[in-house]
Amino acid sequence: MDKKIWQEIDEKEPIPENILQRMEELRSHKAEVIEDKYIKRPTQIEGIRRAGVVNTGLLDHIGEVIHDGMSTQEIDDIVDAYTKEHGGICACLNFEGYPKNVCVSINEEVCHGIPARHRKLHDGDIVNVDCTTIVDGYYADASRMFMIGHVSEARRRLVEETKKCLELGMEAAQPWATVGDIGAVIQKYAQSKGYSVVRELGGHGVGIEFHEDPFVSHVGRKNTGMVLVPGMVLTIEPMINIGKPGVVIDPYNDWTIYTEDGKDSAQWEHTILITETGNEILTH
Ligand code: MF3
Ligand code: CO
Ligand code: CO
Repeated sequence: MDKKIWQEIDEKEPIPENILQRMEELRSHKAEVIEDKYIKRPTQIEGIRRAGVVNTGLLDHIGEVIHDGMSTQEIDDIVDAYTKEHGGICACLNFEGYPKNVCVSINEEVCHGIPARHRKLHDGDIVNVDCTTIVDGYYADASRMFMIGHVSEARRRLVEETKKCLELGMEAAQPWATVGDIGAVIQKYAQSKGYSVVRELGGHGVGIEFHEDPFVSHVGRKNTGMVLVPGMVLTIEPMINIGKPGVVIDPYNDWTIYTEDGKDSAQWEHTILITETGNEILTH
């Protein structure tokens, strides 16, 4: 958005004075504080919330229809149809050249799995479906794991502990805490369970654009990195590996990320709003 539009937003719905003051004070103490334009205003939050409602309905729907033998292209078709029927647009399609509506990542695929007719879900697979929904220009981004049929104990545990990582990350995402606080709790918990955390990809600011500042690392140290200011909207989306943390990118499609050691990986994602008293999940 250009400067004039930002100015109009500022005039209509200014950032509350107490928050602006605290941001200034933190900046004067050399803390990392986000640019004012990323602090969402009530109208914007309402829009992102509406995108979140469609996104949540979509993932609930996927949960009802996903099954053994289904192709990942069928999931893509369902995401496309459901989103349009509910007044939304799939953000992934054509995003930096991405060719499909959704990312579907199976087992050792970490993220950005590209749907295809020939790619079928099998009994025992663990599958991440990652949907980003635009409604009236506002973005909501979330993903869940689905377990197909009879899943091994090791895979089930990975899926559940990764969900726990997301929950712990969200608990740490308190007003005036830092992005490093989120990464620190996730890293500590994942490693305590013998897992590793992917470092190359992370969460992100979201809402007016697909990927905004800040980058939300899922590893880190307490009290470091950007301050979490009420009005920030961001995703937390830990990618947790059973084996080593290293990843590789598919040399043919230049999108899909795999674990380097070929072992399984899981991911869960929510979009959250930092509030003055805690946070609110916008993709519930
Ligand atoms: N939804 C992903 C995220 O969580 C991004 C996917 S980008 C795409 O940030 F182009 F692959 F869709
Ligand atoms: Co995301
Ligand atoms: Co996503």
